[in-house]
Amino acid sequence: MKKLSVLFCLAAFLLCCKPALADGGRIHVLPQPVSVKEQAGSFVLGGNVALVVHTADDATKNAVAVFAGHFSAVSGVNLRTVFKPTSGKRIDVYLDEKPNPNGAEAYALTVSPGNISLHASAAGGIFNGLQTLLQLLPANAAKPATGTATIPCVEITDYPRFGWRGLMLDVSRHFFTKEEVLKYIDEMSAFKYNTLHLHLSDDNGWRVEIKSLPLLTQVGAWRVKRTGRFGQFPKPEWREPATDGGFYTQDDIREMLQYAAARNITILPEIDIPAHSLALIASYPNLSCTQMPYFVNPGSNFYTEEDNVLCVGNDSIYVVLDKIFTELAQLFPNQYIHVGGDEAYKGFWEKCPKCQKRMADEHLKNTDELQSYFVRRMEQMLKSKGKKLIGWDEILEGGLAPEATVMSWRGMQGGINAAKMNHHVVMSPWGFCYIDLYQGDPNVEPATYGKLLLKTSYSFEPVPDSVDASYILGGQANLWSESVPTFRHAEYMTWPRSLATAEVLWSPKNTRNWDGFVANMQEQFKRFDAAGINYSKAAYDAVITSKKGEEDTVFVKLACEITGTDIYYTFDETNADNYSLKYAGTAFTFPYGANQIKVITYKDGKPIGKQITVTKKQLAERANDRPDW
Ligand code: ACM
Ligand code: ZN
Repeated sequence: MKKLSVLFCLAAFLLCCKPALADGGRIHVLPQPVSVKEQAGSFVLGGNVALVVHTADDATKNAVAVFAGHFSAVSGVNLRTVFKPTSGKRIDVYLDEKPNPNGAEAYALTVSPGNISLHASAAGGIFNGLQTLLQLLPANAAKPATGTATIPCVEITDYPRFGWRGLMLDVSRHFFTKEEVLKYIDEMSAFKYNTLHLHLSDDNGWRVEIKSLPLLTQVGAWRVKRTGRFGQFPKPEWREPATDGGFYTQDDIREMLQYAAARNITILPEIDIPAHSLALIASYPNLSCTQMPYFVNPGSNFYTEEDNVLCVGNDSIYVVLDKIFTELAQLFPNQYIHVGGDEAYKGFWEKCPKCQKRMADEHLKNTDELQSYFVRRMEQMLKSKGKKLIGWDEILEGGLAPEATVMSWRGMQGGINAAKMNHHVVMSPWGFCYIDLYQGDPNVEPATYGKLLLKTSYSFEPVPDSVDASYILGGQANLWSESVPTFRHAEYMTWPRSLATAEVLWSPKNTRNWDGFVANMQEQFKRFDAAGINYSKAAYDAVITSKKGEEDTVFVKLACEITGTDIYYTFDETNADNYSLKYAGTAFTFPYGANQIKVITYKDGKPIGKQITVTKKQLAERANDRPDW
């Protein structure tokens, strides 16, 4: 009897505390919730399930309406939304008056056989809980929509680790339409991101209507059309029509803001100044030090010839910037405006009489201090309009503006320095957060630069040991779009690395679990397939690393980020399969005379990765970049 009850308790324990991560289990929520207690049984969807909204709060009603649309698309069941208690099968949504101790984005979700109930104390928490509920539907419920899917019984309590969980979309280097931005918002909201940072201006296009400065969108939003490898495009011809580009009207922005708000997302606008400003300068040529006429750059290599930096000694720029920020401050409810501040080439300032006079008048010792003077002025300007300034970590150079928040991209150090000066920080180091980088082997991926593998995204830790965690607002993955000409490709670069970042930013640090994440990601891939969302499977490919030995010897190591994979390779230029050489886990060299290796990954006897072909010469060149190997 004793034995039996021990066994019973053990079984009950295993059932209740089964981790949300277990591969083959029923629960695959991503990002992983704080607490998941799975129970026996299911809520079976019938034809007549009521969605009972126990509040008149408009923001909650908007979140519920978004959910009902998704629920119907995924399950085939049209929920009956009502605002009064009703009998029968129900999903009850309660907006609690008492604030949730874990914040406005926290929620509690209970699924039992006859009822589903969701509690939160703000619309953001309700939205998040409803995203979790959508992910409790089986991934294959989407196609075909049968209307008889089941939801596993479970108790979930959940809240985010960080309040800033961002994605940045660069809409300047390539323009994405309003509809595409709305789709991006929808996709990111499913994983509880709450901030969309729009990089609205750069050298390659101005993307937001400023009514008092019409040339910004008549001139700055357009460039000559080029296709191929951005950065290597031929320069504009004399009188060649500028037909490529676009911009968002203020009505478009209001629509985006409303759409985002219904999905618990705030939009952060960025106007990148004083550098990366060629679209602004092409529209109003008196704003640069050289005051020369320039074209909006179509993706040509220009840096040494063209002046993409505002003349900070020229008072006219402050008049123009005041107009821009007045309109943006009225348009965007976000408490922050991002002013860029990155990568300013200061050579024109060194030679410009106006900039030199400004330095003398303001007792500035060098051009770093001149940039700091400019950022401080921007902070004052934004403050006068009720906004706070955030900028890339270069704003630390020459002295940080008194209340500025720093977005640390060149690594963690800028963020650490800012936090130690009691400034708020958003961590976005390129080595963990730049999703425009290669996510697989460059020989099989669309051309870009650098490398950011999925597992590296997942290993991001936004809070360094040496800083007070309260200064770290959160983190953000950034999609620069030089090499992202289409929205399909934007999706491909975003997913699944931004699934990893979503979990880093939402879930407790001590529950991070790579294999569990992969299991949940694979369920998510089925949902992406059903919804027609593009994503990369590069994590299934081999990772080929190399080291140079004596003379022309090259040592090679093979790996795969996905656990339990077999790797096969050939040197004889035939296709690799599971009858080829099998990687034994130790470094090897090329046989005498062989110049190329082909590598492929298998799992459970089936190919799962792309075949990658790399020459010995390429591996020798790559080895130079990896002295640490
Ligand atoms: C940046 O990547 N230049 C912020
Ligand atoms: Zn100047």
